[in-house]
Amino acid sequence: MTVADELQATIEQMVQSGKGILAADESQPTIKKRFASINVEATEENCRAYRALLFTAPGIEDYISGVIEFEDTLAQSDGGGTLLPKVLVQRGIVPGIKVDKGKGPLALSPCDLITYGLDGLAERLLQYKSQGARFAKWREVYKIGEHYPTALGIAANAEMLARYAAACQEQGIVPIVEPEVLIDGGHSMARCAEVTEAVHKGVFHALHRHHVVLEHMILKPNMVLPGKDHPLRASAAEIASATLRVFRRTVPAAVPSINFLSGGLSPEDATANLNAMNADFSGAPWLLSFSYGRALQQPVLQAWQGKAENVAAAQQALLKRTRLNGAAQRGEYLAAMELAN
Ligand code: 13P
Repeated sequence: MTVADELQATIEQMVQSGKGILAADESQPTIKKRFASINVEATEENCRAYRALLFTAPGIEDYISGVIEFEDTLAQSDGGGTLLPKVLVQRGIVPGIKVDKGKGPLALSPCDLITYGLDGLAERLLQYKSQGARFAKWREVYKIGEHYPTALGIAANAEMLARYAAACQEQGIVPIVEPEVLIDGGHSMARCAEVTEAVHKGVFHALHRHHVVLEHMILKPNMVLPGKDHPLRASAAEIASATLRVFRRTVPAAVPSINFLSGGLSPEDATANLNAMNADFSGAPWLLSFSYGRALQQPVLQAWQGKAENVAAAQQALLKRTRLNGAAQRGEYLAAMELAN
């Protein structure tokens, strides 16, 4: 199989109607924060048990086509001794891996952020591939302020995403390209649209410069929304309309799928917004789906509470959220569905 065939086969398995991606790739500090909300310590064993709970939840393979894992998870096993990436493969779910090393300030441009991890990336990708990963994820983060992100910040972040994506494709690994404009702050929806548009233009120019094959990548963006401290809320229909206007201007039709991040939205809002895009704006050239972390996992953590006796209820909570987002991918979600189990 050529590298192009390998990339195409992975895309075809990941991009399916009614399915999306589960982001379960929290780094150690992030999972510590998530577990703290339910008073559970982020020990290695608790993290393993939690990921095993997620990956073995009955029925999720009907709505989940890929799972993004954190490095440590690749070497961990379920209760029966099967490696977790293998558990996914056995269920027809593609294992993926977060490969960036987190963010920090961009030198001499302190209001811009930049993500680390390009040094040694090719070697790490080889290792992850040998452990079963067939796609990867890299996240660049943009804070909105009156004067930032700057043009320099946008260009530097785009370059990182493009170099990462090229490195992945060279090794037959599908890159998820994630430019996340943060919801934090008091900015308007129009300002979020302006920044998201500039960010996407920068990213796609850089992907082109680095010869990234658009048919063999997935975009994981934010939705266009008012900042979380802005006095006005927007409806799902307004968010869908503003988001798709920006994407039509910036994302080539060759990209097979746009899988949104949830970025701090409630599980219900994340589902309703995705549904509005698919129900009200059919005819988009890309599949519009989800790659949610918090919006899929919040109800699971609440049901689990770190207790073995709650595993079945927690898995049921995950199945419910994946089923509702699967419906939203088809534009068939109704708020009344929240009431059923
Ligand atoms: P959220 O859906 O919680 O934003 O996480 C998605 C993700 O992978 C962020 O990198």
